[in-house]
Amino acid sequence: MSIIYNEKTRTFNLTAGDSSYCMSIYPLEYLVTQYYGKKIPDTDFTSYQIYTTRTVSFNPSRPGGGPCFTMDTYPVEYPSFGTGEYRRAAIRIRSAEGNTATDFRYVSHKIYKGKPEIKGLPSTYANNEDEADTLEILMKDTVTGGELTLVYTAFDKMNVITKSARLKNCGEKPFVIEDICSCVTNLFSSDFSMINLYGKHNAERNFAKNHLSYNCQSIVSRRGASGHAQNPFIALVRDGSSEECGDTYGFNFVYSGSFEMGCEVDYFDSTRVTVGFNPEQFEWILSPGEEFFVPETVCVYTDRGLGEMSRIYHRFYNNNLIRGRYKTEKRPLLINSWEAAYFDFNEEKLVRFAEQAKEMGIEMLVMDDGWFGHRDNDTNSLGDWFVYESKINLQSLVSRVKALGLKFGIWFEPEMISEDSELYRAHPDWCLHVEGRPHCECRHQLVLDMSRPEVVDNIFEQMDKILSSCEIDYLKWDFNRNLTEVGSATLSAERHGEIYHRFMLGTYDLMDRITKKYPDMLLENCAGGGGRFDPGMLYYSPQIWASDNTDPIERLAIQFGTTLCYPTSTMGAHVSFCPRTGFDVKGDVALWGTFGYELDPTRLSDGDKALIKEQIADYHKYYDLIRYGDLYRLIAPWDGQQKVVWEIASPDKTKALITCVHTRYNAMERFFLKLRGLDPEKMYKNSFNGEINSGAFLMYGGINLTFAPKGDMKSFKIYFEEV
Ligand code: GLA
Repeated sequence: MSIIYNEKTRTFNLTAGDSSYCMSIYPLEYLVTQYYGKKIPDTDFTSYQIYTTRTVSFNPSRPGGGPCFTMDTYPVEYPSFGTGEYRRAAIRIRSAEGNTATDFRYVSHKIYKGKPEIKGLPSTYANNEDEADTLEILMKDTVTGGELTLVYTAFDKMNVITKSARLKNCGEKPFVIEDICSCVTNLFSSDFSMINLYGKHNAERNFAKNHLSYNCQSIVSRRGASGHAQNPFIALVRDGSSEECGDTYGFNFVYSGSFEMGCEVDYFDSTRVTVGFNPEQFEWILSPGEEFFVPETVCVYTDRGLGEMSRIYHRFYNNNLIRGRYKTEKRPLLINSWEAAYFDFNEEKLVRFAEQAKEMGIEMLVMDDGWFGHRDNDTNSLGDWFVYESKINLQSLVSRVKALGLKFGIWFEPEMISEDSELYRAHPDWCLHVEGRPHCECRHQLVLDMSRPEVVDNIFEQMDKILSSCEIDYLKWDFNRNLTEVGSATLSAERHGEIYHRFMLGTYDLMDRITKKYPDMLLENCAGGGGRFDPGMLYYSPQIWASDNTDPIERLAIQFGTTLCYPTSTMGAHVSFCPRTGFDVKGDVALWGTFGYELDPTRLSDGDKALIKEQIADYHKYYDLIRYGDLYRLIAPWDGQQKVVWEIASPDKTKALITCVHTRYNAMERFFLKLRGLDPEKMYKNSFNGEINSGAFLMYGGINLTFAPKGDMKSFKIYFEEV
């Protein structure tokens, strides 16, 4: 059992891999955080009260608790708003009387094996009951009648704890949830930097690192999507830690809508991490008897640096988030029509693509945007999910592609509607809108009101009709604009604060229905590239198109950033016609992700075709290593060098592949590279010069790459194999 409750000291100790999380029930039934960090034996938590600060502060104390019992001095695990808590609270309820004083105290708890699902929401799972234990702590606010359940799952063999919450109205009057967090974590020092992944369209998930100070440091999305600008992930790294060592805490919100997550440092140098909805865009009326579910946060702790934190997330997501057939089955190597043809294609052209692709060893043709309604450009037809008959005959196209021995994939953008569409003409009120206000323009499209069940039903029926009309192996699910004028024609005025979250629930419901009805179909998410690259989406789709930017040099920052918490198996990466580098660099960079092509195969020279065949051979040769291996960021873009290097080593330490991309050639460089993740005792032969060295030599001394091929925007790979 990885969760223990000590009756005498009223202390919970959660052990996850070699990390511990500890909480106690204090006088007045407040639940207080004791510790989160490297594993400490259960026996040490008998009278473990070192972190409370027993001083009288200029702070109102809890009635009945004495002058020292204040919310400033007690690190409450899930703090309530308005009853003495002056830091970021986790929950704020507006009562039927209109006040927001909220006060949740411990009532009871239960511990059980396994991990529960979260109703209507994506979440990680345990593969069997022995993999994880769950603690549910019931708390009550006596005035509103709110019953709050905090749910903690500790994974036995991984340094992973997930946290979520649910709230039930057990009172007699409705109340409004104004704010409710997924996760709060109190740490008892402030010697940390916060890392987050910021970006924009075509440049997602860049690395940012800033030291904490005596203030709040947060990242937010107000887009109605997790968004290009901030990924729902932060890490706290202790001063002096690095890629390879030191205390590192990761927090990743399993949600695809607007969010807020960040840290607050107080005058005792404590750091409070909070993760949840963006309270500016969230409100929920909870009537008596109703229950509300909060998405979960995946928390990782390691004392072995940022690199190990990433590898823990990678293993965990591959094993406990990704689902379905393609969790383990090899994914088809695809070619996508978008950059090859944009809207300019017909059945004959796609069949020619398929013929050429087949000849080079590609396994699937994906027909991107432009096959439905009367869509020849981006001004129309979203919402009209019926075949554009004068362009293609879907049955005939699919059977011709299949006859060549290729699989077939198709593009949808289910949450959107064009004003020029039959759907809009029939239901002009089905988009998010506010009467009297003009719509914001974005790619000529509007966002469907996914909070309305009849809208979700209609889109499901249309998609189902297409997907059941022929054998479709893959679906690319796009989302090409953020939400504005967030109003709904059917929700009452007082419920309008619910729309952002109801939108996400509608989208998740649609994804759930599609993936349940078509379990063998591979789903790839996309949002103008990587504008919704988050664990919520990964629950439905094992891979996500990482960025619309396919320039391999620009991709380096995007892909390195993505690997902070997302495994390579999820990172959509293709070789395109982008002119900046040769085909070899494009191939080396795309090989690190799901790999595929995004180009017109009928316009390739014989030389390029030969290179593509080699790339495809490499793809098969290294597939298992890249898919199941451990990633080491040997030189990252944020290390400020003129090259980057990544390594993937097999978990059994018998093989490793390093890839180096020089962004700028340095003629006078002496370049020794130290590998990681090898066995010091094993001997390895390298594919660069055929030398045989021990793992110890390669990791501690390093391989001399001074004479390796280099030049501006050149790359090379070296494969190491045990002999
Ligand atoms: C988005 C996607 C692209 C492509 C286009 C089609 O921009 O990111 O890959 O599918 O939409 O309109």
